[in-house]
Amino acid sequence: NKSITVGLLGLGTVGSGVIEILRDHKERIEHKTGCDVTIKSVLVSDMAKERELPAETELTDRYEDITRDPDIDVIVEVMGGIDHTLTIMLEAIEHGKHIVTANKDLVAQHGEQLFEACQKHNCDLYYEASVAGGIPIIRSIMDGLSSDRITKMMGIVNGTTNYIMTKMAQDGVDFDSVLKEAQDLGFAEADPTADVDGLDAARKMTILSILGFSMPYSLEDVDVKGIRGISSDDITYAEELGYRIKLIGIAENDANGVSVSVEPTLLPVEHPLSSVNDEFNAVYVYGDAVGETMFYGPGAGKLPTATAVVSDLIAVLKNIRLGTTGTAYVQPQFPKQVRAQSE
Ligand code: NAP
Ligand code: HSE
Repeated sequence: NKSITVGLLGLGTVGSGVIEILRDHKERIEHKTGCDVTIKSVLVSDMAKERELPAETELTDRYEDITRDPDIDVIVEVMGGIDHTLTIMLEAIEHGKHIVTANKDLVAQHGEQLFEACQKHNCDLYYEASVAGGIPIIRSIMDGLSSDRITKMMGIVNGTTNYIMTKMAQDGVDFDSVLKEAQDLGFAEADPTADVDGLDAARKMTILSILGFSMPYSLEDVDVKGIRGISSDDITYAEELGYRIKLIGIAENDANGVSVSVEPTLLPVEHPLSSVNDEFNAVYVYGDAVGETMFYGPGAGKLPTATAVVSDLIAVLKNIRLGTTGTAYVQPQFPKQVRAQSE
């Protein structure tokens, strides 16, 4: 087997899931990839916290220990953050590291810069976990549906708000206590305002739009409304009238161009999205040829998200094994002429 060394950035909800999956599925991963994976170093901010780590893994709070380590082949970024994290990622790419990230904030805002850096340095960039947690929606759009012209994507792409509204509807609990529950379960972002105010869903819909429509699209152009204004009474009245309130993201590409929005929406209770509960996500994708497809699964949480991250890592390992690094399987195509036409 080929030995591959990984640097892990972050050891919170998702990072600890990555370690768990690499440990519990070690033989399966070796069998599938022909690679032995070692996590050499893990970046955290608080060195004093108690952690459970494999014996061969060291902890650091200096990112350069990882980005500049010539032994490290792949960086798995599950720490979050934007500007500082972008600096770290670009430095890692300059040092020839392949990248797997769960960071939608970074991909939605600086995806193109990351893609270009990866192309320049022949590095892979995979980010399946950045949208809809454990649902392989990015691969499905980029690969399974790549022959089709996608015209619309619509669904529930934030687990925290869906969890909050499900519990408010089912148990009549108040917003603040159920938000705390979603944080304790590891669904919410470090700063949950991104979830609650719809920005997290807007970032995910931006990524889906760029990939699905093969067009550049800016996060700033998304119409966003979060769930802060929704009370338990609103949810109860809606239920009495036969409706359910869901935070719905819609991205459309029609004759007028691309439009993307995220907002709380009244859906008839019999609508399939009405029965997507708790932290689960679901995304409809409409294509000219395929018609309607629907993807459903856990949208947040330790093991579902880590499953997507480790599957991306496996894709990188396979590329390394095949000597096809730099092909960036899920990298969106932004041909300059498409950009010029759409601007
Ligand atoms: P988390 O539990 O808050 O963990 C973050 C980890 O990163 C912690 O170990 C933290 O160190 C470390 N970290 C943060 N900032 C750092 C810095 N500046 N320098 C060094 N270490 C730093 O977060 P998470 O829920 O695992 O999420 C991680 C990423 O995955 C985020 O981009 C998030 O959006 C994305 N994601 C999360 C989920 C989910 O369900 N949680 C799903 C999909 C995507 P300490 O341990 O020392 O605090
Ligand atoms: N905070 C995010 C959510 C995590 O609740 O959907 C998954 O991206």
